[in-house]
Amino acid sequence: MPAREPRLWAVDTPHTSYVVALDDHDRLHGLHWGPRLTAEQALALLDLPASPFRPVIGREAPLDLSAASAFQYGHTGVQVRFGDGTRDLELEFREASEADDALTLVFADRHYPLEVRTRYRSHPDSDVIERSITLQNNGTEPIEVLRADSATWAVPDLDAPRLSRLHGEWGAETQLTRTPVPYGETVIGSRRGVTSHQANPWITIDDGQATETRGETWSTTLAWSGTWRITVEKDPAGRVAVSAGFGHDPVSISLVAGEVLETPVAAGLYADGGFAGAASAWHEYALAHVLPHPEEDRPVLYNSWEATEFDFTAEDQMRLAERAAAMGCELFVMDDGWFGARVSDRAGLGDWTPNPDRFPDGLGPLIKRVHETGMRFGLWVEPEMVNPDSDLYRAHPDWVYHQPHRRRSEVRQQLVLNLAKPEVAEWMHHWLDDLLSANEIDFLKWDMNRPFTEAGWPGSADPDRLWFDHTRNLYRILDRLRADHPALRIESCSSGGGRVDFGILRRTDQVWTSDNTDALDRIEIQEGFAQVYPARIMGAWVTDSPNPFTRRVIPLDFRFRVAMAGVLAVGGDLRIWSDEELARGAELVADYKRIRPVVQHGRRHPLKAGQAAGVQYDRDDTTVVLAWRHSRRLGYRDPLVKLHGLDLDGRYEDARTGRVHHGAVLATHGLDLDLGPADYASTMIELTRVR
Ligand code: DGJ
Repeated sequence: MPAREPRLWAVDTPHTSYVVALDDHDRLHGLHWGPRLTAEQALALLDLPASPFRPVIGREAPLDLSAASAFQYGHTGVQVRFGDGTRDLELEFREASEADDALTLVFADRHYPLEVRTRYRSHPDSDVIERSITLQNNGTEPIEVLRADSATWAVPDLDAPRLSRLHGEWGAETQLTRTPVPYGETVIGSRRGVTSHQANPWITIDDGQATETRGETWSTTLAWSGTWRITVEKDPAGRVAVSAGFGHDPVSISLVAGEVLETPVAAGLYADGGFAGAASAWHEYALAHVLPHPEEDRPVLYNSWEATEFDFTAEDQMRLAERAAAMGCELFVMDDGWFGARVSDRAGLGDWTPNPDRFPDGLGPLIKRVHETGMRFGLWVEPEMVNPDSDLYRAHPDWVYHQPHRRRSEVRQQLVLNLAKPEVAEWMHHWLDDLLSANEIDFLKWDMNRPFTEAGWPGSADPDRLWFDHTRNLYRILDRLRADHPALRIESCSSGGGRVDFGILRRTDQVWTSDNTDALDRIEIQEGFAQVYPARIMGAWVTDSPNPFTRRVIPLDFRFRVAMAGVLAVGGDLRIWSDEELARGAELVADYKRIRPVVQHGRRHPLKAGQAAGVQYDRDDTTVVLAWRHSRRLGYRDPLVKLHGLDLDGRYEDARTGRVHHGAVLATHGLDLDLGPADYASTMIELTRVR
């Protein structure tokens, strides 16, 4: 264990400290991840006994920089293979440097020309710590990198560690589960080329006792939109370590002479305010340090997909736009079907010029008319894809991922372009840049509808690179487009919420949360989503009833109130909505605009009262409650809902009734939601602090 010398570093945040120290063999141990310690207290960690458990070889305290090396029988976050077959690393500490709120510790292998840097960054206004590593080949021979996790976090000893995570599938993303951490390794991740619907790169560990409002949590998330894995390991002594990184088994990268491999950021958060407290801290971090324009309110958008799918004319789009504008929508997004021979999902993907039958004079006339309604104009694109039945594919059949002598499996009649190839990346940037330069497009919905298969790159010296370079080139293109078109805003979509992570969110403004627009199903999806991502990016459309997917009939108010908990949007076929529905929709859009700054920039608290549930958002002197209840039993009365985070000495005026409530009473006894007896009851309540 650590030598008695100050080879110890503490990364401090406003309320927490993360402490690492080197032992005699230059192994870096994670000593503390918890409440903030003074320098003296941190140093005292070196006096703790090595391990409260039997000192068995191989059962060592979890390492912070966990490189494959002698006696490391559990999970290791850094794995390489040198030219002669050697796989063990023997890292020697070289130096520490501090700059820009970041600590960097530099290591080099004792014999081979590999340098490893581990970096820790904190912010003065957040308890989130950002970590990454870099591997540099300082020799002349290639070094194969089998695994380069951004961070391995040693979680303190806990009696009954519990793992919270988000699993899912198409139409049911971000389903929250909490289960005891089993012994051994639990691995979640994606091998699909995108972040995935099946798992989101976030986990939380608690001691099994935390509630929404109480208890310590240790969470981590990976800012990466390609394949990834998070390993949660509970060793035989019950200690938990969490390691997060890009890539997946069994892909590797060959690091050539002089090359540097930089991993994405794995961010970690220790918080002591229950699950909701941790979620709020993640939201604040996203708003302060991830999103490109956090200060902006996201507009109420209208999206035409569910209304028309592939069957429309420019006139149909205009009719929808007029009705959307009348309802108060601020951004009109024309979805799939506007280009090439794309009148179904069978052809045209890759041919990014307006369909000549639908738009004989290009997109200009429609964009102009949409702008005349006062709305901004947005357009759907799916740049990483191609239909085999397209001019692009006929010209460049080698531009898709493929392997010799293997079939090219299609999903939705489409293949994935090899964006790792420089010429594909150049072509993609070029047509997007041209499209944005030639048209007044304010917003792109960037879709990605199928996972990779047969992911090969014939002719490449290092084909597995595609798993990394696809995402890197995607990021580069997004960054370039944003820099050259500063007014452009972008939505990340991947058949709904298949690409939601802090990597894509650095360069996009909101996400399409799920293709499932059924308000009842959405409640759970949104609850899971909110564990880490803020309402400010959570796109939520109000669509038709019966819902096109579930056939469920849900009243308009309920559909709106659930969607108003995020970035409200409308996605129904407004051509068939009745006058009453259009008028009520307009009222609810106006309601949303009033509460929008509170929802999109405020602090979120989940609410629960019997069968009713909802969310509370607070900002400055305003509190907004959105609540809903599917049904209730005969004779049953909804309990009052206790509010959170209020000033107990303050008084709050309820805009519905004009009544003034005491903060202390709202917090300890609760607020009457007054939902009434009907099924699908919902409400929106605005409380203002009275001075
Ligand atoms: C999948 C998206 O999630 C939908 O919203 C829509 O854009 C379709 N793709 C269009 O093909």
